[in-house]
Amino acid sequence: MKSIKTLGQFIIEKQADHPYAKGELSRLLRDIGIAAKIVNREVNKAGLANILGDAGSVNIQGEGQKMLDIYANEQFISALTSGGECCIVVSEENEDCVYIDNEVSQDAKYIVAIDPLDGSSNIDVNVSVGTIFSIYRRKSTEGRATLEDVLQRGTDQIAAGYIIYGSSTMLVYTTGKGVNGFTLDPSIGEFCLSHPHMQMPKEGNIYSINEGYYAHFPDGVKKYIKYCQVEDAKTHRPYTSRYTGSMVADLHRSLVKGGIYMYPMTAHAPLGKLRLVYECNPMAFLVEQAGGKASNGYERILELEVKEPHQRSAIFIGSENMVNKAEEMIACFS
Ligand code: AHG
Ligand code: MN
Ligand code: MN
Ligand code: MN
Repeated sequence: MKSIKTLGQFIIEKQADHPYAKGELSRLLRDIGIAAKIVNREVNKAGLANILGDAGSVNIQGEGQKMLDIYANEQFISALTSGGECCIVVSEENEDCVYIDNEVSQDAKYIVAIDPLDGSSNIDVNVSVGTIFSIYRRKSTEGRATLEDVLQRGTDQIAAGYIIYGSSTMLVYTTGKGVNGFTLDPSIGEFCLSHPHMQMPKEGNIYSINEGYYAHFPDGVKKYIKYCQVEDAKTHRPYTSRYTGSMVADLHRSLVKGGIYMYPMTAHAPLGKLRLVYECNPMAFLVEQAGGKASNGYERILELEVKEPHQRSAIFIGSENMVNKAEEMIACFS
């Protein structure tokens, strides 16, 4: 009989790999896994639980919040608040950083950035959504952690990952030693190791971009899109186009099959739409750990300076050769 390895067992087993092997990061990862299961339960019955639709509020990015955006945000913040290892949460759904200052968090050393529900416009139509998380260790050694502790570069991440609430629910994460994927077995309520040592193919033939905005893209991006569409048997073109409206779902596909996900800069939004701290950096860390590449079109995402928690960045992420090609074409027009 094939033996099952749960996320909890795996985390403990790999604890010695962490740069700080005291069990705190393990507990933090375990808490994120528990919150993910609670959100998964609600996502699965969203149509029955009266949590579909708009909440009637707007977040700091000016996006209308869905009820499930708020529910997922509350679940993750609550798990991190009671877990005792997290001192600050940065969330897409909170304008200000959430400073955790309770009895159990006196010695908390970790900062967690989250996109509680990614692709939330998909929720009303029963298409995949996700959660993205990123973990940093605080740099300051005295007093309360501050905003300075939040403004670390992507290269400083200790761990990052995502949960995809898809046809099955998966948690995929890295602590900087490769990428592993776990599938939720609903019959036992556990994430079980299903995708050990995930490797992103160097080349792919799927591209994901919102082509509705084609007219607004810079010439280099337009040229790359045309490149994807041109017939060439040797390079397996034309490529296939797939775009769900959830970066997690589109990137998960690229991670498994090879491909590129792009959210470029436009004339109206020179930094694109996605947020550096809780969308681009965690996905960039994970994709690099799987052998892929992540760029803002010119520079490595992970090395970008972080000036504020909700800062945006253009992103080109996925199979290394595809990202290189996009960068090459963008550079031609710069
Ligand atoms: P979120 O739902 O967390 O706000 O993120 C949505 C993001 C990303 O996941 C997705 O690919 C993209 O925004 C969709 O934006 P467009 O509708 O502009 O294509
Ligand atoms: Mn949003
Ligand atoms: Mn998102
Ligand atoms: Mn979101």
